[in-house]
Amino acid sequence: MAETLRLFVGPVIHSLSTSHLEILPHAALFVDIHGQITKFCKHVDPDDANFGPDLVQDNVKIHRLAPGQFLIPGFVDTHNHAPQWAQRGLGQGMHILDWLDAITFPNEARFADPDHARRVYSSCVDGFLRQGITTASYYGSLHAEATKILADLCLAKGQRALIGKCNMSRNSPDYYREPSVEASLRATEDCIAHVRALDPEGSLVRYVLTPRFAISCDPELLQGLGHLARENPDLHVQTHFNEAEQEMAFTKELFPQFACEADLYEHYGLLPVGRSILAHCCHMSDYEMGRLRELDCGVAHCPISNMTVGGGFMAAPVRDFLRRGIKVGLGTDSGGGFSSSMLDAMRQAMIASHAREVMSKGEDKGLSVDEVFNLATLGGARVCGLEREVGNFEAGKQFDAIVVGTLGNEQGIMTMVEEGDSLRTTFEKFIMTGDDRNMAEVYVRGRLVKGVSKA
Ligand code: GUN
Ligand code: FE
Repeated sequence: MAETLRLFVGPVIHSLSTSHLEILPHAALFVDIHGQITKFCKHVDPDDANFGPDLVQDNVKIHRLAPGQFLIPGFVDTHNHAPQWAQRGLGQGMHILDWLDAITFPNEARFADPDHARRVYSSCVDGFLRQGITTASYYGSLHAEATKILADLCLAKGQRALIGKCNMSRNSPDYYREPSVEASLRATEDCIAHVRALDPEGSLVRYVLTPRFAISCDPELLQGLGHLARENPDLHVQTHFNEAEQEMAFTKELFPQFACEADLYEHYGLLPVGRSILAHCCHMSDYEMGRLRELDCGVAHCPISNMTVGGGFMAAPVRDFLRRGIKVGLGTDSGGGFSSSMLDAMRQAMIASHAREVMSKGEDKGLSVDEVFNLATLGGARVCGLEREVGNFEAGKQFDAIVVGTLGNEQGIMTMVEEGDSLRTTFEKFIMTGDDRNMAEVYVRGRLVKGVSKA
């Protein structure tokens, strides 16, 4: 944490709503020693040494963005499997349950070894921070020890995170299954206590209840986790939801008493109002969308994994969700799919939405750049229950930000910026063709987590 008040001066782009992207060519943001944005001046005079009357006081360190740079909020990855960092790209095209058995469970079982966990998770958190993911909602493996290590690393490296160990008491191989419902619940309580002790205020890391999906959990385990959700109103719940036909058919076989997954998870208390993060939601009936809205669930849309792993080549009806007022964010899914980049997730969300437009005979219009940027930032913050803390640059929020560079060493391979390009054009070139090379600096709660700060 820096010792003094900082003033970031330069172009700022952030999202106010799905339909409102604010583009400010000359703005200034004050950030205090706690990493909080204390003041946001949307229009300053860049030619005045003090950027306008009464703005700069003595104790302020000024960070003037370089030519070609602009500030955006950090990305919020609403669905990410940390142990899958080491298996990304494998098993493309497989159906979900086959992919879990052949690729994922053998990989995740290795996290029984704390040294392995520390090595992979360290690389994972570094890798996501490097790509501007300032907040991630992580699934760990089923191991409590490894999950605690992940929480320790997020806190030490400065990544904001929801972290949960997977609950898995059935339907996976002996070598990767919890011995009993009781053991699974005890390990969960142990992890909750660890994360609370690490960060009592939840200022950076928080626990998230993580039944992997209904297939992995005995009814008694779902019940026990629902009880924990009720007893701990500060905790979110995350799970996989209506991801693929193979998964839905097996769920139906295991729980024939429920008409759909919304009824199933709600029955066990796992859709607490405003506190659930449902990954995928590809196959949705009118009824289920209604329940998601009424229970204020958040959707983690993962278009890359949906179109590469899982089977069915089907991604969530995001336009329909937005029309109904359902919260939507984006997830990399890390292991499912080929990319851990939120920029790629935004692009794939646009592609998936174009397919949905065709499927709906033009009724569900494709998503725009402004809209997918909203999903990657403010939308994701809402899904994770963090919209009062992060997602954009409103005064009072935390300074989670990316300094995007587009010139010189920072240009990377993005479409070249030409003389006369507007800030909007430059932004669009970055979103559609940029990568982590354009992310010159990354901040979480005002702490520099990538790059070299000038302030
Ligand atoms: N369903 C249950 N586990 C997983 C997982 O690890 N990835 C995806 N994409 N779906 C799942
Ligand atoms: Fe997943």
